[in-house]
Order: sequence, then C-alpha cells, then structure tokens
Amino acid sequence: MSGFDKDWLALREPVDQRARAMPLVDELARHLGTVAQASLLDIGCGTGSTWRSLIPHVPTDTRWMLLDYDPVLLGEAERRIGERGNVSFRQFDLNEVQSLPLSDVTVVTASALFDLCSADFCQRFAETIARNGTGLYAALNYDGVMQWSVPHEFDGQVAADFNRHQRFDKGFGPALGPDATDHLRHAFETLGYSVSVGSSPWLMGPDDAALQAAFLDGLEKPLTEIGSLTKQDIRSWMDFRLERIGEAGSSCVVGHADILALPRG
Ligand SMILES: C[S@@+](CC[C@H](N)C(=O)[O-])C[C@H]1O[C@@H](n2cnc3c(N)ncnc32)[C@H](O)[C@@H]1O
Repeated sequence: MSGFDKDWLALREPVDQRARAMPLVDELARHLGTVAQASLLDIGCGTGSTWRSLIPHVPTDTRWMLLDYDPVLLGEAERRIGERGNVSFRQFDLNEVQSLPLSDVTVVTASALFDLCSADFCQRFAETIARNGTGLYAALNYDGVMQWSVPHEFDGQVAADFNRHQRFDKGFGPALGPDATDHLRHAFETLGYSVSVGSSPWLMGPDDAALQAAFLDGLEKPLTEIGSLTKQDIRSWMDFRLERIGEAGSSCVVGHADILALPRG
C-alpha cells in the first residue's frame, strides 16, 4: 500500500484536470502525432487520472502501460478503465528505475509524483529514459505556493512548515517537494532535451469544498510533526480555514507546475 487513498485521488482528479497546463498537453499530442506508433508509460498511475485526462488529446491508437506499486490503486485503475486492447497494467516499484519497461515507449507520463521523489531518483530516472530516447510529461508537481483569499496570521508559517515536511522521505530518499520541477528541468536540459514548463495551480472556490476540507485535514499531521506551531495554534488556524471554505468569494490556491521534456530531433 502506498498510503494514497483512492477517495483522495478521486476528490482531486477534477481539480487536477482543469489545472493542467493545456499548452503542454497540446505539445505532447503534436509530438505523439509525429511517430508511427505512439506509446505512453504512465508511472505512479494511481487509479488512472492521467490516462483519463490525456485520452481525448492523444492519437486514438496510442498504446498505454499504467504502472504503480500499489495493487489496490492499480486494481482500481483496471476496474475503471476496463479491458481495452491498447492498455496494460503492471505492478512495479519505481525504485527499480533501471528496469523500467521502456521498450518502444515514446513518452513517460506522470502526475502528482515527482514532488515525492529525491534528487538522486530524478537523476537516475532522467539518465535511464534519455538512454532510450524517451520523453517525459510530468504534471501537477507541487511548487510550494499555498494562498488563501482571506488571510490568517499563521498562513506563512503553515506554508513554510508544510514545505519543509514535503522534503521528508516519501519512499525515494529525501523528497524534492517544491523543487521537483526545477530539478527535472535542469536534469533534462543537461541531457540535451527541449523542455517546456507550465503553471498548473489548483484554484479552489466554494464549489470545491470537499477537496479544500480534505486538503486542510491532510495538513494537520505534517504541521504537528514539524512542531513550529503549537497544537492549539494549528487547531485554531484549521477551524478558521474550515469556516471560510463555503463563504462566497473565498478561495484557495495551491501551486503546481507541469513539465514536458522531449528529445531533440
Ligand atoms: C499522489 S499519487 C498520484 C496518482 C495519480 N498519478 C494521480 O494523479 O491521481 C502518487 C502515486 O505514486 C505511486 N507511487 C508512490 N511510490 C511509488 C513507487 N515507489 N513505485 C511505484 N509507484 C509509486 C502511489 O502508489 C500513487 O499511486
């Protein structure tokens, strides 16, 4: 089990979908249109959010392999996508990056994954796919920004503490957290790739109340573990935020970035 709950992934999927930087999706689709047989490998696929987001945009005969190490999420992806001739599923631990099934893969796709990964993993991953001439589309990497339309005196400390916690080990060594996109950009530019980055913030208003509440709930443990704010301060900040969620005109922005790295020529 990865600790990523399918209900949490379902809650974030529509907001992720509208946040994605569409110019990068268009660029990816154009690139796939230039190869005889497009093939995508979606790593850390969860329940298949990236497949559902990209399917209207990529060539209809694109082959897909969806890969995750969590059998429950992979099973849910399989159930939701159903049996299709051009989609396969594979349980795989990305820490075995050198054994990634890259044969004939045009582009590796991912979403909400690389902020969990370490610098060392990203470097090994970039070198591995570059040896194969494969591209990368990695969407929704958290970028460290957390803002609310109605301010509270603890907002700055909350963001700083959460961003510190984001750098703890999430299974790949010390995580890059908000630095993931910059790190990937540097790694792929150094390998001679053409790299595009686009902003993909979550813009959450009263209609996204359930995601906002779940997001706040998910902050409590990291904030408590960092411990700069007292439990009482965390509780009062949380209560303030929960009360604002449904208010007309109140909103929350959580910053993300998407990256597309394609081999030149
Ligand atoms: C935040 S979720 C994102 C899921 C999906 N891409 C989405 O956007 O809804 C991160 C995913 O990475 C997977 N994951 C984490 N560590 C992994 C590893 N070492 N090997 C394979 N998958 C991993 C988790 O199981 C989870 O499905």
